[in-house]
Amino acid sequence: MHKNYPFIPWIGGKRRLAKTILPLFPKHTCYVEPFCGAAALFFMRDPAEVEVINDINGELVNMYRVVKYHLDEFVKQFRWALVSREMFGWLNVTPCETLTDIQRTARFYYLQKMSFGSRVSSRTFGIATTSGPKLNLLRLEEDLSQAHIRLSRTFIEHLAWQECVSKYDRDHALFYCDPPYYGTEGYGVEFGLDQYHQLAELAKSIEGNMIISVNDIPEMHEAFDGLTINTAEVFYAVGGGNKRAKRSELIIRNV
Ligand SMILES: C[S@@+](CC[C@H](N)C(=O)[O-])C[C@H]1O[C@@H](n2cnc3c(N)ncnc32)[C@H](O)[C@@H]1O
Repeated sequence: MHKNYPFIPWIGGKRRLAKTILPLFPKHTCYVEPFCGAAALFFMRDPAEVEVINDINGELVNMYRVVKYHLDEFVKQFRWALVSREMFGWLNVTPCETLTDIQRTARFYYLQKMSFGSRVSSRTFGIATTSGPKLNLLRLEEDLSQAHIRLSRTFIEHLAWQECVSKYDRDHALFYCDPPYYGTEGYGVEFGLDQYHQLAELAKSIEGNMIISVNDIPEMHEAFDGLTINTAEVFYAVGGGNKRAKRSELIIRNV
């Protein structure tokens, strides 16, 4: 099976941390991402025997299901599409309730591909002057076929992270937890400090192994005190083009 890449851009996506985190994975049979987003590590790693991706974002989870079960119909939605600011604007104001699951996914995919800064809420049309649009209509089928193969043997869940962890917790499970960065917005959901403390408690008490990535700030050192904590430096692209910013992240383990 070929390794793959995430097929939508997602704020906080972990593509750039793959090299640091993947070698830390202990032996496991069941791999679970309770905060999957665009699931960069899931797509980039070698497949585990059993795989689970979960997110609270219903549009995202709907997209994974449609790519798993209705790929051809989904691709057809883009037959005459154009990368246009106007089309982006129309899709942005289209209420999801008026659409079928396949149309909803096409809307979501289009908006996410063209969203400035990969934002998930309050999206605006993103342009670039040094590379073409992220939405490449000619490569759509090719890109998504790889993802379809990978998703065809994956459990796709739409649960709060706590429920996802408790459902799959076994001694042969590995949870890679990538919660929203504390103090940053962009997913349209609340994520308070108490949830990081809850995650730390769970990491100390579950049967399976857990690896967590969070931003390097004093609140996170305090929340995850008692677990193994490593620091990693990552360079992120900002605002399109070639601008880069350095950020320090914490990789936390119960192993
Ligand atoms: C940092 S992103 C994950 C990025 C991902 N690792 C990637 O490579 O794209 C955090 C994710 O947590 C999800 N999330 C926020 N609150 C959640 C909750 N209570 N339960 C499950 N997922 C949640 C968000 O929708 C978002 O997709």
